[in-house]
Amino acid sequence: MTDPVSDRTHAAETTAASQELEWRDGDMPYSTAFGDHFYCQTDGRLECGHVFLDGNGLPARWNEKQTFLIGELGFGTGLNFCETWRQWKQHGEPDSQLHFMSFELYPMRAEEIDRALSRWPEIDAERQTLVGAWPEEPRGIVSLALDVRTRLSVVCGPAMDGVNEAKAGFDAWYLDGFAPSRNADMWSPELMQLLYDKTAPGGTFATYAAAGFVRRNLQSAGFAVERRKGFAGKREMLCGIKPA
Ligand SMILES: C[S@@+](CC[C@H](N)C(=O)[O-])C[C@H]1O[C@@H](n2cnc3c(N)ncnc32)[C@H](O)[C@@H]1O
Repeated sequence: MTDPVSDRTHAAETTAASQELEWRDGDMPYSTAFGDHFYCQTDGRLECGHVFLDGNGLPARWNEKQTFLIGELGFGTGLNFCETWRQWKQHGEPDSQLHFMSFELYPMRAEEIDRALSRWPEIDAERQTLVGAWPEEPRGIVSLALDVRTRLSVVCGPAMDGVNEAKAGFDAWYLDGFAPSRNADMWSPELMQLLYDKTAPGGTFATYAAAGFVRRNLQSAGFAVERRKGFAGKREMLCGIKPA
């Protein structure tokens, strides 16, 4: 597989900071800095399937390409990655490759990832492999060949820097910053424009967010944006495509 991140990056020089977490309901992480949960309190794994996989036309689109590149804003606990990997193992073509590249300012420690993801027995195998491979001090670009068909790269540092230095060619984006009202950097016009520029023609995005300014930023960047029903009673979510 080719590496869509150039050899020299700011992110590679960045020492990752950590963020203060509170644990709610035993194993539900909550960021005190951003005042938000990492995923919906109903069921973050099912939310991932509805919002990020369905919203990007996955798993069906996996069969279109030999190597499929997913970008994510906000790795957090790795829940979206583990659920995507679980579905990839079931639905991906045997000779194709998945590269999941996530951009994260505050990478968690292995024991925090383990604690959060232990909630879901469905992704036990993925959690154990991820936690076993996760570095003690994640920094720079954490690049893990987790099985012969699946590679994870977590680019540590501000998403704006990481995406800027990534090579173009993303097939799908998971936009998963904290709530737009609390984490404006992850939804800015500049970052949405960068995402668009780095997306392959026909590439897509999906997000749980439905805020008007997020939709307008994505439209101004060039995406054709669609509103869909959100997860678990949420009225709307957004997804869209870069015209081919
Ligand atoms: C909603 S959580 C992501 C949840 C994650 N996708 C999961 O599966 O657990 C948002 C994440 O964005 C990260 N974040 C916030 N601002 C950022 C920035 N400017 N650049 C990169 N990551 C950022 C936070 O540290 C947090 O991990």
